[in-house]
Amino acid sequence: MHVRSLRLSHFRNYDSLEVGFHPQLNLFLGPNAQGKTNILEALYCLSTTRSFRAASDEEMIQFGRGEGAIEGVLRREEGEQAIRLELRQGKNKALFLDGKKQKKLSLLLGRLPAVVFSPDDLFLVKGGPALRRRYLDLTVLQMDQGYLAHLQQYERALKQRNSLLRQKVPEMQSQLSVWEEPLARHGAALMLRRREAARKLSDFAGEALGDLTGGAERFEVRYEPNLPLDGPESSVADQMLRALAQARREEMARGVTVVGPHRDDLGLWANGQLLRKFGSQGQQRTGALALKLAQLSLLAEGCRTAPLVLFDDVMAELDAKRRAFFLNRLQQGGQAFLTGTSANDFSAASKAARIFSVEGGKVVRAQDGPGG
Ligand SMILES: Nc1ncnc2c1ncn2[C@@H]1O[C@H](COP(=O)(O)OP(=O)(O)OP(=O)(O)O)[C@@H](O)[C@H]1O
Ligand SMILES: [Mg+2]
Repeated sequence: MHVRSLRLSHFRNYDSLEVGFHPQLNLFLGPNAQGKTNILEALYCLSTTRSFRAASDEEMIQFGRGEGAIEGVLRREEGEQAIRLELRQGKNKALFLDGKKQKKLSLLLGRLPAVVFSPDDLFLVKGGPALRRRYLDLTVLQMDQGYLAHLQQYERALKQRNSLLRQKVPEMQSQLSVWEEPLARHGAALMLRRREAARKLSDFAGEALGDLTGGAERFEVRYEPNLPLDGPESSVADQMLRALAQARREEMARGVTVVGPHRDDLGLWANGQLLRKFGSQGQQRTGALALKLAQLSLLAEGCRTAPLVLFDDVMAELDAKRRAFFLNRLQQGGQAFLTGTSANDFSAASKAARIFSVEGGKVVRAQDGPGG
């Protein structure tokens, strides 16, 4: 499967745009601030319904406009499909599949899996646990149709329980337990799915890092829930209920729920040392790349179609060996979209790619790839 074409209207610095893509390799070149990342962002929205960098959908609507739209045509074995996302100021976005409006945006998840590589990936290693939870959630969301419902129900129960904890009303105890049952049930579902994904990510990331460093470094991803996960989902839920009961006094004093997967983290280890604390800059960067490569492998396995690779501005940061490694990986993967400021950074890949030059919200095809 691949994206055959993309149409944008009033999206970021694109007034209107229509481009056709190469089924394998697409390269967007141009000076800074011309609209390269905006294209990857639009593709990522078609994959996950949201941006990898905007805090709100409205940021993506062109300045001074009330609405914008992203439309992609997918070519799949079963035929073509048009996905259209409409962004509207002050309203929720709307999804259309082949022109038909859909009630649920979540229908999109897993249809067009995608992984972004960007210089910000470094924060996955160096930053706080919320970024790692998001990385884990976004991976599972694309593979597991049931995960979103657990996540939403968990977040709802957590919000209700926290607001009760803050109110400190007399009948609080009995009301708290009303929310603890769904909290524990959905919490257990989230934790077991996250643990499973983390295990696989650890294997894939270990492999990737081994390849990258010629076997010199061992990499490990450890899932770190804040309660023990023994037995099947129902007994994990029971354990969480008990943990909530035990923590209740502390939580009433602090006015916040401290037990549960909203406090999860992923430990990233290289050669037995915690990367966040002891890794060198280079090790942290390589660790972040390994995590993203692992996500790519896991999604390829879990979604039964090779994910889109969105490679934003990362080539210039890599040394020659890592560059060669990545370009080689790309040839085995699905459709790829790469951005950069100079063709030199892409060595041999630039000969195999369809190249676009991007300038001031205009995209011009500068070279066609083989078979395009
Ligand atoms: N909502 C918006 N409406 C109009 N223009 C926008 C909007 N959001 C961002 N822009 C503009 O889009 C321009 C291009 O952004 P983009 O991030 O795609 O650049 P880029 O080509 O990736 O640059 P770099 O090489 O520096 O990463 C920015 O200069 C910004 O001013
Ligand atoms: Mg950019």
